[in-house]
Amino acid sequence: MALYALGDLHLSFQADKSMEAFGDLWHHYVQKIDKYCGRLTADDTLVLTGDHSWGKNLAQCATDLKFIESFPGRKILLRGNHDMFWDAKKTQQLNDLFKDRLYFLQNNFFSYGPYALVGTKGYCYEGLDTFEHFEKIRDREVQRLQVSFDAAVAAGYDRFIMFLHYPPTSIGEFSSPFTEMAESYGVEHVVYSHCHGRERFGDSYIGEVNGIEYHLVSGDYLGF
Ligand SMILES: [Fe+2]
Ligand SMILES: [Fe+2]
Repeated sequence: MALYALGDLHLSFQADKSMEAFGDLWHHYVQKIDKYCGRLTADDTLVLTGDHSWGKNLAQCATDLKFIESFPGRKILLRGNHDMFWDAKKTQQLNDLFKDRLYFLQNNFFSYGPYALVGTKGYCYEGLDTFEHFEKIRDREVQRLQVSFDAAVAAGYDRFIMFLHYPPTSIGEFSSPFTEMAESYGVEHVVYSHCHGRERFGDSYIGEVNGIEYHLVSGDYLGF
């Protein structure tokens, strides 16, 4: 029984958007995902930290999600910025639709031994929107993360592993509402992805900071 995390599969079985064009880090990425995730066992847990599919809706993601379903073990999915199939207000409907096959993490939590796995998409400033808009989106994500923590605490959990799609801090930041929340709950690990390409791998924390281990699990960073 082990816990794994991997992000940003960017699958495109039904869309003509292969990531092979993005250089050597993406070479044979689908084959690698198939090979490495295929090694999981039935009692393993894999948290996929968002940007699962290029499909624009559930129908266009069907083959990608089937591929993810085919890996052994429990698959827990987080919402990435490209996951258009996932209406943020309808996470429970996804959990009902994929019951016992895939698990969608938002405004809820899942358990792993003594740990609560909490998480949300998160947000960091990338200069793509106004700062006011950034703050609005970020604050909504902070609220969702709070709901996740509240649900875990209400169920009696006091050990946490926290998952985000976006890096926990914006470039140049040393803290954020996400790192502050992680510290206030005594989170042991923060896991995130979203950063692609060698020039982006250092955007946020990797390793131990203020007692928390930060892990970047972007597929192209880990070699899938
Ligand atoms: Fe991505
Ligand atoms: Fe992303």
